[in-house]
Amino acid sequence: MNCKYFGKCGSCILDLNYKNQLEIKKNKIQKLFKEFDIKDFEVFQSKESHFRARAEFRFFKDSFAMHSIDNSLFPIEACPIVLEPIFFLMPKLLEEIRKSTILKEKLYAIEFLSSLNKDTLVTLIYHKKLDEAWQDEALRVSNCLNISIVGRSRKQKVVIKKDYVIEKLKIFNKDYSYIHQEATFTQPNPYINQKMIEWAKDVSKDFGYDFLELYCGSGNFTLPLSENFNKVLATEISKNSIKTAIKNCKLNGIENIKFVRLSSEEFVKAFNKEREFNRLKQANIDLDSYNFSTVLIDPPRAGLDETTRDLIKNFKNIIYISCNPNTLFRDLKDITKTHTIKRFAMFDQFPYTPHIESAVLLVRH
Ligand SMILES: C[S@@+](CC[C@H](N)C(=O)[O-])C[C@H]1O[C@@H](n2cnc3c(N)ncnc32)[C@H](O)[C@@H]1O
Repeated sequence: MNCKYFGKCGSCILDLNYKNQLEIKKNKIQKLFKEFDIKDFEVFQSKESHFRARAEFRFFKDSFAMHSIDNSLFPIEACPIVLEPIFFLMPKLLEEIRKSTILKEKLYAIEFLSSLNKDTLVTLIYHKKLDEAWQDEALRVSNCLNISIVGRSRKQKVVIKKDYVIEKLKIFNKDYSYIHQEATFTQPNPYINQKMIEWAKDVSKDFGYDFLELYCGSGNFTLPLSENFNKVLATEISKNSIKTAIKNCKLNGIENIKFVRLSSEEFVKAFNKEREFNRLKQANIDLDSYNFSTVLIDPPRAGLDETTRDLIKNFKNIIYISCNPNTLFRDLKDITKTHTIKRFAMFDQFPYTPHIESAVLLVRH
């Protein structure tokens, strides 16, 4: 990939030769997990450019700007890692902002969310109150560029058209539609995301019975994996993500999933009958009615807390998706006391950064 800001930009900091950096990451993972004696490390590589569906820039000196390696701001004209709809939109949007005092004044940051479906949303973040004049101007630009716009300021959110994009993912030749809501978690690299979902669907194809998912987000893995199981229960801490997950389920006509807002810590208490939750009752969920064969966890960078780690050991099959190899390593040290690693995959979700996404299948000894 060519980028004239390489060496200065604080975002892409690894070797720009993609093959080299992938090899470095693979070696790092193999070294870190050496003691588990994993026979086959599966490696899934990314597209080398135009792979990011989410991007955030500061607005500085009438331009998009990034933080440099030494943390100072510098203007940029283009960014080759963002999806094409964002890449081609950036100069057009900038032109509109530059010629509009209303849009430009006190504009602090610009965020993009797009999809393989080419649906694009721009969030403009301000240090001023957004009035009717701003709304009129944002609507004009939204019509002219065929995008949705969200204006954000302190205690204010103004939506022009919609505050989400529609994503369409192809999982083993079947299409799934997803609402990706602004300001809620979505996987940043949709090409790699498709490969991760396919991997998880493939490893669980013969498990049968019921499926539990913790940290389910908006149902990214839940929807396609639901076809491998009788009943599915999926939980997550974020209210917005659960609301979106329920909509996503309807959008795809899937009927065997129940989503409920519970943190992993709360789910542990419910599962161990230490506490009753109205949220479970209201959703008509009786935990005793499930015959779980499999649990999937996809926690944030901190990995699993001790109680969640203990809980998942109750399940025969564990699929662990991780965005932090160090906390994954810590958790696997414990989980492998009862379970054996059957498959291990590295997904290059974040090219040109040191971050690595991994997926592990464990089965009870
Ligand atoms: C890495 S994301 C994965 C989401 C989803 N699996 C996906 O692929 O889009 C982690 C998710 O965990 C949720 N989360 C964070 N802390 C949590 C907790 N203590 N209990 C349950 N969910 C939590 C976040 O809101 C986020 O949606």
